[in-house]
Amino acid sequence: MRYTQKHLLAIEGLHPPEIASLLDLAENYVLLNRSGKTQRDLLRGRTLINLFFEDSTRTRTSFELAGKRLGADVINMSVSTSSVNKGETLLDTAATLNAMNCDLLVARHAESGAPNLLAQKVEAAVINAGDGTHEHPTQALLDALTIRRRCGRLESLTVAICGDVLHSRVARSNIHLLTTMGSRVRVVGPPTLMPAEVADLGVSVFHDMARGLAGADVVMMLRLQRERMAGGLVPSAREYFRFFGLDAEKLRHARPDAIIMHPGPMNRGVEIDSEVADDPERSVIREQVEMGVAVRMAVLDTLSKWTGRNV
Ligand code: NCD
Repeated sequence: MRYTQKHLLAIEGLHPPEIASLLDLAENYVLLNRSGKTQRDLLRGRTLINLFFEDSTRTRTSFELAGKRLGADVINMSVSTSSVNKGETLLDTAATLNAMNCDLLVARHAESGAPNLLAQKVEAAVINAGDGTHEHPTQALLDALTIRRRCGRLESLTVAICGDVLHSRVARSNIHLLTTMGSRVRVVGPPTLMPAEVADLGVSVFHDMARGLAGADVVMMLRLQRERMAGGLVPSAREYFRFFGLDAEKLRHARPDAIIMHPGPMNRGVEIDSEVADDPERSVIREQVEMGVAVRMAVLDTLSKWTGRNV
């Protein structure tokens, strides 16, 4: 079963073959990218708009690169929401984008559900590039591609997702993807940074790194998202690092060949120590970024079948 939906708004609800087909296609793009070639005829004449209502480095640039390598005309729109009503701006923007005949719309927004709303209002195929604390589907796909290449499979792995799960759309998308593909997911962090309903997502919850990491194949660290905290959820950065920051000592509890992941941007010395983040054998953080471009090319390729205009 290939991925046949018009948009990519969430991982929740996808079936294993849909996920696998996107990853298989992304594998081809890893090879293409490594060969230094491009495939500019694929999206020639199509317009991709990167609509970012929130900051981004990796996600926006990798969508831009992905679009350009496939030959699309790429336009970046960064929109500040500081002084305007968010709902109104979003719908106004949707009307503008429609008038521009945009084919593919990559949207990031601080409000959960904003890309879904856009998908109802625009003609373009919409890709969720991160909405509030809800989902970040292409991040989970690139993480899955990285894991599959390193561990050889996505099923029957023990994956520990550690840190600020409460505010993390990356965690939510990864939980859905990894449990759907048959892995065991643990979430590890202080009780104040765990969503109340997290166990309903089919994960086991740990508040202690030693126990949470025991025997893990994959250790995925999350950024402490202070910008989403009303305050008071964590003690000082120093204390947080002492209990929940990944360093060589805590990593000893995981399998000796466990890989270390982080979606970026990293707070070094807060959730992760440089020694493990830069470990050339076990850290796959740079590989995640490389996989990000390939996965986004696969997603654009797949969704471009829906962009109706003949070019
Ligand atoms: C993540 C995001 O924006 O959700 N970053 C990313 O896309 N690589 C995670 C984060 O901001 O911590």
